[in-house]
Amino acid sequence: MHSRRALLYMPGDNWKMITKSVTLGVDSICMDMEDGTAVNKKGEARTTIAKALQELDFGTSEKLARINSVGSGWEKDDIEAVLPHHPDGIVIPKVESFEQVEWASRIIEDAELKHGWKLNSIRILIGVETAKGILNLKEIAAHPRLDAIIFGGEDFAASIGATRTQDAIELLYARQAVIVACAAYDLQALDIVTIDYKNLEALKVESEFGARLGFSGKQVIHPNQVPVVQEAFTPSAEAIAYARRIVETFEASQKEGKGAYALDGKMIDMPLLKNAQKVLARANAAGK
Ligand code: COA
Ligand code: MG
Repeated sequence: MHSRRALLYMPGDNWKMITKSVTLGVDSICMDMEDGTAVNKKGEARTTIAKALQELDFGTSEKLARINSVGSGWEKDDIEAVLPHHPDGIVIPKVESFEQVEWASRIIEDAELKHGWKLNSIRILIGVETAKGILNLKEIAAHPRLDAIIFGGEDFAASIGATRTQDAIELLYARQAVIVACAAYDLQALDIVTIDYKNLEALKVESEFGARLGFSGKQVIHPNQVPVVQEAFTPSAEAIAYARRIVETFEASQKEGKGAYALDGKMIDMPLLKNAQKVLARANAAGK
């Protein structure tokens, strides 16, 4: 699965921002037709994204297009405008049911067959950002074409009538619900946008908290946010070294017939080994 520590959005009709995005070394680029694009610019966003997919070299950045929500009335034209140019994935916002993912998956499969592309080569990432979406996560997360669930904090706060605060305590339950569903189905979990984009210290704190919760990455909206977020979701050299020591000493201790043992004055047993392996997998995905 493509590493997605930072997923950068820009309005799909903004050619300048799209061309800038491919120079940033960001893991994922998401050209938006939904809420970042004005209602009277939806058509322009479709043709601009199609042009970008045809003409620009995205390098190692993943190229994604976000369509409008299923049921908005725009979704069909959105997906049909971009699919012929083989994006790496489609992002569907405000998903509330398995059927909405299946709707897009069928259209994608038809395109893969029609063009002779590898089946499942175009992935789906979904936004879960409403009360119904959170309630139905159990069914939604089981969809086989899914790679990631993106939690939209602002939409979710609006959906439940919560007031957003800096520490985002009002979002904790839903963020953890998304993380649990992702862990159960081996998906990536992508955290909220820090909309106060000039405050990079707040971004760092929020990113590190998200990483501790179990998110694998975070949505960003400005180029300056990219390095901060990508660093926060890359295990530190210290964390990698400690994880390696756990893996090595665990093996030796098993051979001695001990399930639990002490390392630097702390108890190590199976769950700590599993966590260490997750750290190493994440470091590996980030090219460390
Ligand atoms: N992607 C790529 N480039 C971006 C960008 C983005 N999301 N946001 C800003 N830039 C570029 C600008 O074009 C500018 O480029 P330049 O130096 O070549 O002129 C540079 O980065 C600095 O931008 P800045 O002037 O600091 O930002 P701004 O005031 O123009 O825009 C926002 C601020 C928040 C309006 C803008 O960042 C934005 O639209 N972000 C995306 C919002 C979005 O897509 N929301 C929907 C999903 S949540
Ligand atoms: Mg949203």
